[in-house]
Amino acid sequence: MKKIVLGILSVIFASYLIAQEGAKKHQFIGVDKCKTCHKTEKQGKQVAIWEASKHAQAFATLKSEESIKIAKEKGIAKAPHEAPECLKCHASGYDLVGDTTLVGPKFAVEHGVQCETCHGAGGDYKTKKIMESREESIKNGMKAILVADGTAEKQCRTCHNEESPTFKGFNFEEQWKKIAHPVPAG
Ligand code: HEC
Ligand code: HEC
Ligand code: HEC
Ligand code: HEC
Repeated sequence: MKKIVLGILSVIFASYLIAQEGAKKHQFIGVDKCKTCHKTEKQGKQVAIWEASKHAQAFATLKSEESIKIAKEKGIAKAPHEAPECLKCHASGYDLVGDTTLVGPKFAVEHGVQCETCHGAGGDYKTKKIMESREESIKNGMKAILVADGTAEKQCRTCHNEESPTFKGFNFEEQWKKIAHPVPAG
C-alpha cells in the first residue's frame, strides 16, 4: 500500500516538475552578452548585422514625430516609447524592468527588437556547452524557430501584421533576406 501511495505521489511530483519547466521564465541578458560569441567574421557577425538592421532602431523609432502623431491619433495617453500598445512590438522586456531575476544588468529596452526578442531570453542557454547543442539550447529557453519549417515566418507575423499602424504587407522571402545572419559554412 505504502509503495503504491509513494508511486502515485512521485508521478504527481514528476508532472508538477514538467509543468514548472514548461512555465519556467528565463532571464533576459542583453545583446552585449550574445556579442561575446556572435561577433567575428567566422562566427557570422550576427551582432553587426543586427545593429545595421531596422530592428535595432525599433525603440528609437517610438520617439519620432511620426510615432507621437500615430499615438495621439489612437488616443494613447502615454508617450509611445512608454506605451505598452507600441512597445509590445518595438521592444522586449519593458514590462519586466526592475525584476533582477528576469532582467540582467546589461539588458536594455532601448535595444528594441533584439536577439532575445526572436531567440528567447538567454539567461540559461548562453553557455558555450549548451549553445553547441540545439537540443540543449531549446531545453534551456531558446525558441525553436527555423526558416525551413515555417516557424520563423510565423514568428515574424506576430509583429508584421495589420495591427501595426504602419503595416504595408509582409513578404517573408524578401524581408528575411534583409536581416539573415547565417553562420558561414565550413
Ligand atoms: C559563450 C558563447 C556564447 C554566447 C554568450 C552566446 N552564444 Fe549563441 N552560440 C554559441 C555557439 C558556440 C553556437 C554553436 C555554433 C554556431 O552556430 O555558431 C551558438 C549557436 C547559436 C544559435 C543557433 C542555434 C541552433 O543550433 O540553431 C543561436 C540562435 C544563438 N546561438 C543565439 C544566441 C543568442 C541570442 C545569445 C545571447 C542571448 C547567444 N547566442 C549567446 C555560443 C554562444
Ligand atoms: C517583436 C516584433 C517583431 C518581430 C518578431 C519581427 N519584427 Fe521585423 N520589425 C519590427 C519592427 C517594430 C520594425 C520597425 C523598426 C523601425 O523601423 O523602427 C521591423 C522592421 C523590419 C524590417 C525593416 C523593414 C524595411 O522595410 O526596412 C525587416 C526587413 C524586418 N523587420 C524583417 C523581419 C523578419 C524577417 C522577421 C522574422 C524572422 C521579423 N522582422 C520579426 C518588429 C518585429
Ligand atoms: C527578427 C528575429 C531575429 C532577430 C532579431 C535575431 N535573430 Fe538570429 N535568427 C532568426 C531566425 C528566424 C533564425 C533561423 C534561421 C534558420 O532557419 O536557419 C536565426 C538564426 C540565428 C543563428 C544561427 C545561424 C545559422 O546559420 O545556424 C544565430 C547564431 C543567431 N540567429 C544569432 C542571433 C544573434 C546573436 C542576434 C542578435 C544580435 C539575432 N540572432 C537576432 C531570427 C532573429
Ligand atoms: C503588432 C505590432 C506593432 C504594434 C502594436 C506597433 N508597431 Fe510600429 N511597427 C511594427 C512593424 C512590424 C513595423 C515595420 C513594418 C511596418 O511598417 O509594418 C513598424 C513600424 C513603425 C514605424 C515606421 C518606422 C519607419 O522606419 O518608417 C513607426 C513610426 C511605428 N511603427 C510606430 C508605432 C507606434 C507609435 C505604435 C503604437 C501606437 C506602434 N508602432 C505599434 C509593428 C508594430
